[in-house]
Amino acid sequence: MRKLQNDRFLRALKREPVDRTPVWMMRQAGRYLPEYRATRAKAGDFMSLCRNPELCCEVTLQPLDRYGLDAAILFSDILTIPDAMGLGLRFVEGEGPVFDRPVRDEHAIAQLPVPDPQTELRYVMDAVSTIRRALGTRLPLIGFAGSPWTLATYMVEGAGGSDYARIKGMAYDAPELLDALLAKLVASVSIYLEAQIAAGADAVMVFDTWGGVLAPADYIRFSLEPMAKIVAHLKRVAPTVPVILFTKNGGQHLEVMAETGCDALGLDWTTDLANARTRVGSRVALQGNLDPAWLFASPLKIEAAVRRVLESFGQGSGHVFNLGHGILQHTPPEHAGVMIEAVRNLSPAYHPG
Ligand code: CP3
Repeated sequence: MRKLQNDRFLRALKREPVDRTPVWMMRQAGRYLPEYRATRAKAGDFMSLCRNPELCCEVTLQPLDRYGLDAAILFSDILTIPDAMGLGLRFVEGEGPVFDRPVRDEHAIAQLPVPDPQTELRYVMDAVSTIRRALGTRLPLIGFAGSPWTLATYMVEGAGGSDYARIKGMAYDAPELLDALLAKLVASVSIYLEAQIAAGADAVMVFDTWGGVLAPADYIRFSLEPMAKIVAHLKRVAPTVPVILFTKNGGQHLEVMAETGCDALGLDWTTDLANARTRVGSRVALQGNLDPAWLFASPLKIEAAVRRVLESFGQGSGHVFNLGHGILQHTPPEHAGVMIEAVRNLSPAYHPG
């Protein structure tokens, strides 16, 4: 294990004592920061930025230089895997991600390769090792991937912002077909995260953005079980590296999520943190869960909201402060600073002696 100057994020994930609650923000490097927009303009489009390890490193460090954050997160995207599978990823201004060749039938699924992290996804591993070098021993680095269900949703629908008719049609009408697609994604995500760890990631997070749109039994089969296989793989190859699972709108599934053997659960703001701690807090750490829209309120209101989140978790370790989802594009950067400062100032009271 790497010795870090600031390891309170990793300690909190293991529910070990900390002096204060660690804090980072989902999408902390992104369009709300003018310095990000400047680097992005240099790179051209978003995927060109993702493919450039030096510029990925630059934008990863930008929020760290601006704020007192306790973790860095790799700058990349969850859609690098389907892109490497050959689906033809494009980001359309105002529409989000689009695939030119969505996956809709048995033949297309059978043809899908499992991308090699050291060749097709080399650029991601190079970004991880470049960022690791730049961080030195300053802070931990979080690696990440999308959950198989969330990646399958984009791959089958062909675009975001849908009603899930195609992917749910496949789940209900031809579940064995979806199982085959999910199996390819389990294999791909498992070796991808393993390679990120080998390249220097200190913890990994699985983003299950769309698990919350499923009925409970379908969530378990199509979203949770594939994630559980990834956790099992990572616990075999890298037992000390913390794994965080985040299902957006997954508040009703916390018990089964905790049973996967992961170390922490990400929560959005629709789940009560105190209630979540009662249900699973003896097994996993919890990460979250301020509504990102709070950052549009005034500083005093933001501080009060931070205090309520800290109070809701209560005393002791096992909490990583975060937003309940990615920071919103038009957030005033100084309001993110108010939130982070409030966590730094208010949270020591929750970690006595
Ligand atoms: O947290 C971080 O700082 C790390 C970077 C990160 C990005 N995407 C950068 C990004 C992470 C962790 C992601 C994950 C991601 N990507 C998810 C899961 C997380 C979640 O929010 O639940 C999803 C669903 C995606 C797919 C994706 N990528 C979408 C829907 C978009 C927005 C498209 C749009 O035009 O609005 C992206 C692009 C993207 N990923 C941006 C960033 C900073 C914006 C790109 C730009 O500069 O235009």
